[in-house]
Amino acid sequence: MESLDYPQAKALLEWQIDLGADEAIGEVPVNRYDAPKKQPKPQAAPVDSAPVAAPAFDPADIARQAAASADSLEALQAAMAGFEHCELKKGARSLVFCDGVPGARVMIIGEAPGRDEDREGRPFVGRAGQLLDAMFAAIDHGRAEAAQPIYITNVVPWRPPNNREPSPDEIAMMLPFLERHVALAKPEVLVLMGNVSCLAVLGQKGITRLRGNWTEAMGLPALPMFHPAYLLRQSAAKREAWADLLSLQARLRT
Ligand code: URA
Repeated sequence: MESLDYPQAKALLEWQIDLGADEAIGEVPVNRYDAPKKQPKPQAAPVDSAPVAAPAFDPADIARQAAASADSLEALQAAMAGFEHCELKKGARSLVFCDGVPGARVMIIGEAPGRDEDREGRPFVGRAGQLLDAMFAAIDHGRAEAAQPIYITNVVPWRPPNNREPSPDEIAMMLPFLERHVALAKPEVLVLMGNVSCLAVLGQKGITRLRGNWTEAMGLPALPMFHPAYLLRQSAAKREAWADLLSLQARLRT
């Protein structure tokens, strides 16, 4: 191939970004037609061979110990940064820990960072985040000190590949950090955004049934709500989201 000059290379890159290729996979292209044929699968082990040993540790136990030893939000963030047992960490650029004002009365728990959050290192900065900001601004809440503040985090701090949902194992292993995060941030109420947040915090899915119903979680009143990303796809559900925001506002006034 002829070598490209700078404008040609730039145009080619922009064209690929327009097509949706937004991640560099490797520095050297791989010709998969030249790759050696797949090896046949190994035969199943004979039944009388020794059983495969289960992992000697439970990552959630390690997370629990690391979380318990953190006595401040900064220490918790450092403990999470040092936690090497979650595969999500390997594919992510940033640890997305929190945004907003620690100590705010309202703590919002989302699902996981997406592409924009991974790039910026802050939760809810993409389109769903803009809607979240607009929703809370409508009840006079915001991320800044000046407004009635909110504090935001996610169930997992690393972006899952292709924005898939975090798996139940990933959720379980990161849960001790989330529990400690809530204990250290000391909110008055939790807002659980979407199914993943409800699964992590309440052990239940079914956001259409759960939303709008106050419950108790981690020793605090908790309100499940539709996730803003869902509201971007289903704008008819904004009516219920508005009812839930009003319910939150009323709760904060009492
Ligand atoms: N969705 C989430 O649940 N969390 C984010 O941080 C961004 C999008």
